[in-house]
Amino acid sequence: MIDHHHRLVQRKVQFDYSDSPLHWIPGEAEASHVINVIHMMLPAGELWFCRLYNKALPFVKDARLRDDVQGFIRQEAMHSRAHSGALERYLSVHNIDSSKYLKVMDYLFEQLLSDTPFGYQLFNRRPWLQRWWIGQRCAIVAAVEHFTCVLGKWILEADALDRAKADPVLLDLFRWHGAEEVEHRNVAHDLHVHLGGSFVSRQLWMFVVWPLIVWLFAFGTRTIARQDPSLTKPRGFFAIWRDSAKRGLLPRISSVATSFLRYFKPWYHPDHEANTQEALDYLARSPAASRAARA
Ligand SMILES: [Fe+2]
Ligand SMILES: [Fe+2]
Repeated sequence: MIDHHHRLVQRKVQFDYSDSPLHWIPGEAEASHVINVIHMMLPAGELWFCRLYNKALPFVKDARLRDDVQGFIRQEAMHSRAHSGALERYLSVHNIDSSKYLKVMDYLFEQLLSDTPFGYQLFNRRPWLQRWWIGQRCAIVAAVEHFTCVLGKWILEADALDRAKADPVLLDLFRWHGAEEVEHRNVAHDLHVHLGGSFVSRQLWMFVVWPLIVWLFAFGTRTIARQDPSLTKPRGFFAIWRDSAKRGLLPRISSVATSFLRYFKPWYHPDHEANTQEALDYLARSPAASRAARA
């Protein structure tokens, strides 16, 4: 575990999307859609993180780590709520039907990754199996959190979004979330190590998590693009990703691939992936986080 300690707090942010267009990066429908997938992808997943970590908490014997895990839960619950709000008050208002996508997410988190996958009650009857499954799922969260940190750092530094005059409300939502991902980047890794999780299990789950995240972005982009009347012939996800990344509107494919490879270094620790001060600096000037601090 890394030695210095930073206390995680929940910021009760609120956003008003009444002036936010569907193409929130002006003239960049495709890049707008790719990033908007986050509103559909994360609410169910982040609530699942919270439920899982509440189950893991009794096994945490270190007071500081317990405090971190509780702070993590509070922050992820707020992320889930914020993106659910964007789904209802922003994407739906722009006539984007996300029901099919949400069904997939529900299946993933309510069935496949639940306490009893496929309703298999043996997980409830065998405490050792229950404990093992909590550990495995914590390895999944650690792999996901590696990417949320990488993407969080990217969006904090993506000046191209400012130059493109991206909608300030959505940009603040994504940057506030990205900053908190950077802020709590160590928790999932440290929890998995504390629970006795092995280096190998973290590596193995990364092979599942990485393609799954890419597929979920591709599926979500297709879902939104097909409902966008301004796009007569939606393009494939990788072509969109490559071209938007060239203009700095998405992270480069090569940098995401490199971040995937970094996870396999034996000395990997998320603390080395980003700078907490950079996240705190953004949170200090974020309009939504500032309003929350004053409330
Ligand atoms: Fe989050
Ligand atoms: Fe997170």
